[in-house]
Amino acid sequence: MNMKQGRNVVVVGTQWGDEGKGKLVDWLTESAQGVVRFQGGHNAGHTLVINGVKTALHLIPSGIMRGGVKCYIGNGVVLSVPKLLEEIAGLEKAGVEVRSRLRVSEACPLILPYHVALDVAREAAKEKAGTAKIGTTGRGIGPAYEDKVARRAIRVQDLKYPERFATKLRENLALHNHVLVNFLGAEPVDFDTTYNEAMAYAKALLPMVADVSRELNDANKAGANLLFEGAQGTLLDVDHGTYPFVTSSNCVAGNAAAGSGVGPGMLHYILGITKAYCTRVGGGPFPTELEWEKEGTPGYHMSTVGAEKGVTTGRSRRCGWFDAALLKRSAQVNGLSGLCITKLDVLDGLKELMLCTGYELDGETIDILPMGADEIARCKPIYEVIPGWTETTVGVTDMDKLPANARQYLARIAEVTGVPVHMVSTSPDRDHTILLHNPFAA
Ligand code: GDP
Ligand code: IMO
Ligand code: MG
Repeated sequence: MNMKQGRNVVVVGTQWGDEGKGKLVDWLTESAQGVVRFQGGHNAGHTLVINGVKTALHLIPSGIMRGGVKCYIGNGVVLSVPKLLEEIAGLEKAGVEVRSRLRVSEACPLILPYHVALDVAREAAKEKAGTAKIGTTGRGIGPAYEDKVARRAIRVQDLKYPERFATKLRENLALHNHVLVNFLGAEPVDFDTTYNEAMAYAKALLPMVADVSRELNDANKAGANLLFEGAQGTLLDVDHGTYPFVTSSNCVAGNAAAGSGVGPGMLHYILGITKAYCTRVGGGPFPTELEWEKEGTPGYHMSTVGAEKGVTTGRSRRCGWFDAALLKRSAQVNGLSGLCITKLDVLDGLKELMLCTGYELDGETIDILPMGADEIARCKPIYEVIPGWTETTVGVTDMDKLPANARQYLARIAEVTGVPVHMVSTSPDRDHTILLHNPFAA
């Protein structure tokens, strides 16, 4: 039988996360049969609004709200099993069938209570010492990835073998409790409690555990279109972001292959989800940041009209102007095929918009975001002014119905970043999206 192989699309955030990835992944599932998460963990918060009903997802891929779509958690994700089960229970309560549609890689490193304890204690120690906090989500993400790279992680597959699990847990606790107690002055984590809890949730998890790499390859060969759903954003990538104010995984498109077990040749189209302005949660440099707490300012407008509060931690997001020089870095490291500009409607009513096209750094002019937090913190943005629009764009689904100045803003973004705009989002709702080029079309 000679079946046509499916087409695959990677969806990544091009800024500091919260660009609207969840909304677009959900919308694109109209053309896909599977969605896979390939990095991050429950630090992510992806919001879907369908017929006015809001769903927040943290670990479960944003394909779950479309019946029949399969969801996969790839090996690149660090997994908190209790948090996953909590999320499943919430969806089941809302009438969504999850267990028969979700596959979890047996190679996922587990997030265990000592990872959370280390994450929280380290941030507290930084605060006490007066050094800049990363502002993590406190979910244990960084310590879990450290264990993976140090080759001592306990993985999903270890849950199948209680003795093996116990041996690894004992070894890990010997190290981590030493650090928690003697270096960080925190409480140790108890072996028995951790072990018993893990064995209890293993029973619920194991029926969903699978060889995700094989299932994805088989499904694709049989004709399924797949979506690879990024979490966080390019500037939070551990290599390419505002290091060290980053998360601990590679958020860039290339990791869609390594983090799910498919070859890079299977990634056909890379969609960069890009907010029409910029936001960031947590610490770290942000060249185009505005004052966003003072009423009457453009930053306050973005913060309030855009409802810029984190889905995972409830923290306010910092707000600022669109940064096209940052987008150039994102386009380069992701190999973007097209942009989806989200939250365009939030800019409705602003008299003029500033678009950053480059920076002054140490007396020189540069046109692309440099590497690393120290260099980025010294960047002074260079802006061009673009006229705003007074008309509402909320819910517009046709490019021709956008105000001329909004179209000019989008055209200028495409011109400066060198990436075409293929989609525009004009409200949180699934259907309020302008499609200029379908990523699933060859
Ligand atoms: P993600 O982490 O990239 O999936 O994004 P989040 O869900 O954390 O944050 C995006 C927020 O913006 C959510 O509250 C969405 O419902 C909302 N949103 C997404 N697209 C649009 C849009 O085009 N307009 C408006 N006003 N809100 C949007
Ligand atoms: P989504 O997928 C925005 C940020 C945290 C912190 C830094 C490191 O919804 O876009 P971590 O807990 O990962 O060690 O924290 O990364 N961060 C996010 N910011 N959206 C996210 O996910 C984020 N996930 C982590 O605020 O600055
Ligand atoms: Mg989010």
